[in-house]
Amino acid sequence: MLNIILFGPPGSGKGTQATNLIEKYGLLHISTGDLLRQEIKDETPLGLEAKNFIDKGLLVPDDVVIGMISAKLDSNSNAKGVIFDGFPRTIAQAEALDRLLEFKKAPINIMLALHVNDDALAERLLKRGATSGRTDDQDPAIIRRRIEVYKNETSPVANYYGTQGKLVNIPGEGTIEDTFALLVKELE
Ligand code: AP5
Ligand code: MG
Repeated sequence: MLNIILFGPPGSGKGTQATNLIEKYGLLHISTGDLLRQEIKDETPLGLEAKNFIDKGLLVPDDVVIGMISAKLDSNSNAKGVIFDGFPRTIAQAEALDRLLEFKKAPINIMLALHVNDDALAERLLKRGATSGRTDDQDPAIIRRRIEVYKNETSPVANYYGTQGKLVNIPGEGTIEDTFALLVKELE
């Protein structure tokens, strides 16, 4: 199995690049943000709980997202490999993921961390918010909070994989094609 974490702040291009990478490498894409938005659309109890956090730009509780990831891995046990997008976002999530993958004897191979400056992130997200309907993309204050939450709660996860020798930093301010080429070069 090839298990990749695509890491980076909100708007850094995780979803965009994951879509291209799964096509090239035949991997399963697991985005906790996409899974949560589907739960909200389906008006499930989990979705209703998650919406309170997402609309404020805060993280959904660890047990909720860890449960979702565990179920998703169980229902895709034949996958050639997985691109994790937007997960893990806390050290507790990273530890839980390591335990789940240890059970499958298929650890994380690499964390690819995208780097984009805050102004460019906010600009990308606001632009998408004008058309996407994503409630958390429309208010500059919520976008700023998402970036702050990333810095405070999520960025330590990079060090967690760094100490395992798995972290690779990738500049993400070029075009979508430029960034894709850098990611492919690293994986090849
Ligand atoms: P999530 O859905 O994961 O959102 P996010 O990480 O905040 O950021 P995005 O998905 O918006 O950005 P992205 O990096 O995927 O960039 P994208 O490719 O879309 O999470 C949403 C919320 O759910 C969280 O705030 C939290 O509440 C909750 N949540 C999710 N996972 C959780 C977890 N594990 N634990 C707890 N809570 C969790 O690109 C963004 C835009 O930029 C697009 O319009 C794209 O076209 C454009 N773009 C991309 N690349 C480029 C480029 N190179 N140049 C110009 N534009 C570009
Ligand atoms: Mg995304």
